[in-house]
Amino acid sequence: MTEQSPQKIFLADYTPPAYLIESVELTFKLAPTTTRVMSKIRFTPNPNAASKEFFLHGEQLNLISASIDGSTVTPEPVEGGLKCDVPNAPFTWEAEVEINPEANTALEGLYMSGGMYCTQCEAEGFRRITYYPDRPDVMAPFKVRIEGNDPVLLSNGNPVASGEGWAEWHDPWPKPAYLFALVAGDLIARDDSFTTMSGKEVALKLWVRPGDEGKTAFGMQALKDSMKWDEEVYGREYDLDIFQIVAVSDFNMGAMENKGLNIFNTSAVLASPETSTDANFERIEAIIAHEYFHNWTGNRITCRDWFQLSLKEGLTVFRDQQFSGDIRSEAVCRINDVIALRGRQFREDNGPLAHQVQPDSFVEINNFYTATIYEKGAELIRMMKTLVGHDAYYKALDLYFSRHDGDAATIEDWVRVFEESTGRDLTQFRRWYKQAGTPRLKVDDDFKDGTYTLRFKQETPPTPEQDEKLPQHIPIAVGLLNPNGDEVLPTQILEMTDAEQSFAFEGHSAKPTPSILRHFSAPVILERESSAEERAFLLAHDTDPFNKWEAGRALAKDVLIAMITGEDAPTAAYLDAVAAMLRDDNLDPAFRALALHLPAQDDIAQTLADGSVTPDPLAIYNAHQTLRQQMAEHLQDLLPRLSAEMDVSEPFEPNAEQAGKRALGLELLKVTTRLDSGAAAQALYDRADNMTLRMGALGCLLEARKGDAALADFRTRFEGDALVMDKWFAMQVAHAAPEQAADMAERLTNDSDFNWKNPNRFRAVFGALMMNQAGFHEATGKGYALFADWLIKLDPVNAQITARMSTGFETWKRWDADRQAMMKTQLERIAATRDLSSDTQEMVGRILN
Ligand code: ARG
Ligand code: ZN
Repeated sequence: MTEQSPQKIFLADYTPPAYLIESVELTFKLAPTTTRVMSKIRFTPNPNAASKEFFLHGEQLNLISASIDGSTVTPEPVEGGLKCDVPNAPFTWEAEVEINPEANTALEGLYMSGGMYCTQCEAEGFRRITYYPDRPDVMAPFKVRIEGNDPVLLSNGNPVASGEGWAEWHDPWPKPAYLFALVAGDLIARDDSFTTMSGKEVALKLWVRPGDEGKTAFGMQALKDSMKWDEEVYGREYDLDIFQIVAVSDFNMGAMENKGLNIFNTSAVLASPETSTDANFERIEAIIAHEYFHNWTGNRITCRDWFQLSLKEGLTVFRDQQFSGDIRSEAVCRINDVIALRGRQFREDNGPLAHQVQPDSFVEINNFYTATIYEKGAELIRMMKTLVGHDAYYKALDLYFSRHDGDAATIEDWVRVFEESTGRDLTQFRRWYKQAGTPRLKVDDDFKDGTYTLRFKQETPPTPEQDEKLPQHIPIAVGLLNPNGDEVLPTQILEMTDAEQSFAFEGHSAKPTPSILRHFSAPVILERESSAEERAFLLAHDTDPFNKWEAGRALAKDVLIAMITGEDAPTAAYLDAVAAMLRDDNLDPAFRALALHLPAQDDIAQTLADGSVTPDPLAIYNAHQTLRQQMAEHLQDLLPRLSAEMDVSEPFEPNAEQAGKRALGLELLKVTTRLDSGAAAQALYDRADNMTLRMGALGCLLEARKGDAALADFRTRFEGDALVMDKWFAMQVAHAAPEQAADMAERLTNDSDFNWKNPNRFRAVFGALMMNQAGFHEATGKGYALFADWLIKLDPVNAQITARMSTGFETWKRWDADRQAMMKTQLERIAATRDLSSDTQEMVGRILN
């Protein structure tokens, strides 16, 4: 074993680049195994740099020739690139390299996906294309010439000229190399156009493989909606003559915001009613918006270095959340965002992988495209907006865009803009960027002489390499209800800055009921002793939709946890409250669907562990089953009428209104399936004319162990459609019984359609296995062993996905001694693998520590 501990990079070591770039010209002569890349780069010494050393990044490049100002040079190869003696004045570097896109299974740099060429350069993929200072603070305009046999040849910026077998592109906006993109293939475009607020016409193209044209309408509409929204809400206009999106089948992430040429995972852009669920449509809309919004928050203003990643990602996630909330139901979007935050970011922040929103160090930057950088980062921006208010927020954003346009900026620049523009001191708020871990917020209250007092205590548990935590600046949105259920104090923002702090509310004739942390005003865990009555009261009366839902969720958690720990479960109170809520026709069906949905098993495990109870995955699974059965019996009389009301008779539209009805209909079907052992689900499957209902029905049938016929039918219908077949794989694992999930996953890896080098297909099986909590943690440990086998197999092929999926083990310390030992054994087996990638080494090392 080659025990080489991976190199750590520190934020504190940042130094400005020694050379800046005035212009870049690239020529690509494409060939699957022998692509030639010619570069001509005009460098100039950086007056602000101490160093004069000329270093260019380069990996897996075959250098054919190099010259400076026309004279051949022989650079010195060094770790990760090359060095060369250069003049102490502006000079022109030219080089020719050969690369092998077909052998590139890591899907970073230039690679091939189903016969087409495409690129992924963020974070450090450009160094696999040519020698270059591959760091985001080196920005330059690019001219690109592509020569190749493919009919479509694309790069960033505006088209300059093209002919048979070649095309030239020019991107006038200086950009870092991570935003470079190239695509070549047999593609067809959906064409459209958008007229910007200043009257400029922009050509829009959504490129797909022939056969996928029918899945482009929705994505195009989402793009136009995003362009309009960014003009109306942030005053941001698009800045090139053309904006293009390309769909690619083999892609490590969701999508990438390359300047003027976004590249998307097919799963994040292709949509049709027959093949995509409502949730797919919603996600696609959000990702298209996200990547488009990066044009300003990411591209026009980029990051100085990768420690600033959340500067662009946190802000852009916040912007896409605002967009979704504006065009769909704000309340429902917020609830879904918080469910995702708790499911992924809280899990991360409360385990061995906890890290700062602005990290101090990393080994492999690809390991930091995390829920903390993205989703917690977005929560920080949301809190800043809450603290300064709507108008001050947009004023600060205007200053940010005008001051930093064209910059490679830092998180500190961002916070300073807020301070200067609003006059507020955000010194303490900065801790949110530097302190890892989820704060616990404990609350108690009392009532005396008409004065109601809320007492808060905050505490952030230790995280790796960070034992001491200081108090955070927490905006706590609070409202009060009187005993009749009327709101007697509308939402106020309490600003907590101390470890312990009280807030008094005078003039109440009876003790009010508090609604705390409305709209989830801060990413904290609220700990408050509360009765089932109070929770049911808030579920019935709270005017804040988020806290109304939260009350129901808290009550469901109380029931599930009491069932598991053998205490008295407030089941009756819960079921009555749910029935009342379901009957309330004034409530949005989407909201009712969310309120009926049980808290995730991972959420229950985390809460138990937090309370020093060792969770038993099977007991959690069984509690879920029992409660659902009780729910079915309790709601029996309500089901037929309500289900019928949720039928959508109009033609399918992926809008929020129809989606809400389908969501509630399917939640009710889950309950019904407990009573009719799948009859209604089979009937729905047979008449379904859209994927939402078809997949919802299939899920119920699989849960009832009655899915064989539907599953076979599903495959016959969709055999040739990779994205739908991903669903076919994932569903079987997701819905497998605890003792069968690992066997099912293993069986599926032997299926002729299991193409494990495709990230979507690998995730379909193994992502589903890690999400099936009771199945993954099955008592003999076969889930762990299978998972580790496949991570070891994938690592040399695609280290990025392997490292990311190793988070399946991140909760290992949460479980009982036997499971801990088995998980540790697998982690150590992975760690001991010969030539393990530094990506996976870093992750497994951190998880084990
Ligand atoms: N910037 C992209 C986005 O958030 C993510 C790309 C990250 N890719 C990676 N290989 N780490 O939209
Ligand atoms: Zn992003």
